[in-house]
Amino acid sequence: MELSRRGFVTKGTAIISGTFYNRHEVFSNPNIRKTMSRPLIISTWPFGEAANKKAMEVINSGGSSLDAVEKGINVTENDKENTSVGIGGLPNSEGIVQLDACIMNGPKHEAGSVMGLEKIRNPISVARKVMEHTRHVQLVGKGAQKFACSQGFIKENLLTEKSKKKWLEWKKDNQKKSLEGSSENHDTIALLILDEDGNLTGGCSTSGLAFKLPGRVGDSPIIGSGLYVDNEIGAAGATGIGENVLRHCCSFMIVEFMRQGLSPEEACIQAIQRAAKIDPKGIDLNIFFIALDKTGRYGAAGTGKGFQYSVTTPKQSGILDSAALSDIDAGPVGGNEFQN
Ligand code: GLY
Repeated sequence: MELSRRGFVTKGTAIISGTFYNRHEVFSNPNIRKTMSRPLIISTWPFGEAANKKAMEVINSGGSSLDAVEKGINVTENDKENTSVGIGGLPNSEGIVQLDACIMNGPKHEAGSVMGLEKIRNPISVARKVMEHTRHVQLVGKGAQKFACSQGFIKENLLTEKSKKKWLEWKKDNQKKSLEGSSENHDTIALLILDEDGNLTGGCSTSGLAFKLPGRVGDSPIIGSGLYVDNEIGAAGATGIGENVLRHCCSFMIVEFMRQGLSPEEACIQAIQRAAKIDPKGIDLNIFFIALDKTGRYGAAGTGKGFQYSVTTPKQSGILDSAALSDIDAGPVGGNEFQN
C-alpha cells in the first residue's frame, strides 16, 4: 500500500477504517471530512456551488431548509446553459424535454416526486407541492403536469436553441451511441443540507439521460435511488447513469452503511463496491454519490475519476474531488483539500 498526502493507492485490497474493499483500486482522501459549521450544504458537480450559495442565502434570510433545498436547486433548473437540469435540459429522442425530481424532509420523513414532467421548468418545486399538498409521494407525466398547473406553475417551452441543436445533431449522426448512454449526456443536481438544528433535507433534479426513450425515468426522482434522507443518520444523493443507480438502490444503501458506522465517503465507496461486485458491468457503472451524516461528516465517491462536488458552510465554499474507484492498474486519482 502506498500512502500519499492526497490519498492512498492500493493494489487489490484497500482498508479504510477496518472495511475491506476488494477487486478495485480505491483513491480516497486520507482524512475524514467533517465540519462543525452549520448549515452544511453539499451538492453534486461544480455547478452545484451556485445552488449551495443560494440555499445558504435563503437560510440566512430566515427560510427553512426545505426552502433552501428548493430555491437552491431552482438556480440550476433555471440556468439555460446547463443541459442536464431544468430548462435547457437535453430532450428525449423525440425532442421533448421530460424532467424528474424529488425532495425529502428529514424531520417528518416526508417525500415528494415528479417524473416525466413536461413544460414546467422547476420540477423540484412541483415535487415539494406533491409532498406538502397531496396524499401521494409520486406523480408522473400528464398527471404531474396537470397538478403543477393547478398549483399555479406556468407551462413554457423548455427546449432551448442550444439543446435543440444538440438533439438535431444526435438525430443526424449518433443515435445508437447516445441511446446506450454516454457520461457526457447526463448530469444531475442532488443537494443535501444539515441545518443548525441538526435536521437533514435533500433534493434531486434532472432532465435525465439525453435522447432517452420517451417515458424513461431514471434514478433521480426515485426515493432511495437518486436521493435518500434519514433524519437519524444522514443523507445521500446520486448522479450518473440512472439505470445503474436504480438497480442497486444506492442512496438508501449509502445511508444504511452510514448507520453501520461508516463515514459518508466510506459508505459511498462501499456502495459502489457492492454494486460493482454483483453487476455484470463491474466498475463501469458510471455512478457517483455525495453523502453527509448527522455529525457533519461529508464525502463523495464515484466510479472513475473526474467527479467533483460542492461544499458550502457559513465560513467557506469550495469544490472538492471525490474519492474514486477504478479497475486495478488504472492511474491514480487525487483529492484536493477543504479546510473548515
Ligand atoms: N442520473 C440521472 C438519470 O440518469 O436520469
